[in-house]
Amino acid sequence: MVIDVSKTPVVDVYHALVGIVTPRPIAWVTTIDVKGRVNLAPFSFFNAFGANPPIVVFSPTLRRDATKKDTLLNVEATGEFVIHASTAAFAEKINQSSTELPPGESEVELIGLHTTPSLKVKPPRLVEAPVAMECKVRQILPMGDGPIAANLVIGEVLLIHVDDAVLDEQGRVDPRKLKTVARLGGDFWCHTSDLFEQKRP
Ligand SMILES: Cc1cc2nc3c(=O)[nH]c(=O)nc-3n(C[C@H](O)[C@H](O)[C@H](O)COP(=O)(O)O)c2cc1C
Repeated sequence: MVIDVSKTPVVDVYHALVGIVTPRPIAWVTTIDVKGRVNLAPFSFFNAFGANPPIVVFSPTLRRDATKKDTLLNVEATGEFVIHASTAAFAEKINQSSTELPPGESEVELIGLHTTPSLKVKPPRLVEAPVAMECKVRQILPMGDGPIAANLVIGEVLLIHVDDAVLDEQGRVDPRKLKTVARLGGDFWCHTSDLFEQKRP
């Protein structure tokens, strides 16, 4: 099969892309709106891109009706967000938190979790999550204006909370303890339990 993007419906291009670019880590993002109401949602268009300063990017795409998701509206309005690592223990709750609630209704309450104030940004972090990264927006880059168009939210990480329980003896995050989950194509997710090591040449 050959997919010529210029002749293919956008939904089919989307399904090809998310089936091919795998596995994708999942940013579990808290933001607040101008009234201070907390929003939580997962985003698998996500990764880290440098460490000096630490830069992360995630993309809340436009909805099928080309409107902006609450997370995008919130980062545009407040310039801050918190990214939590998505771990196996919370896989179901992460999925549940993608429910489209009316603005102002909290996904945190819906899934029965709790927040605590962040130290450097206004959006709170999830108490239960083993890792949280407090971030400020560096830039937001919209790419297109139709359904599923990307909006690159480029953030600088200001502060990282890590539960000691997921650290190795060197004080680094141990993947065997953090147990992140990731997104594949369709409704498939994967665990990070099938690990192998390779020394860098
Ligand atoms: C695991 C997972 C990953 C997702 N990744 C994205 C993504 O990268 N970009 C996006 O726009 N929506 C993504 N979604 C859908 C959003 O989470 C969903 O639209 C959510 O309701 C947006 O919330 P908001 O309107 O409160 O910002 C994902 C959903 C799940 C379950």
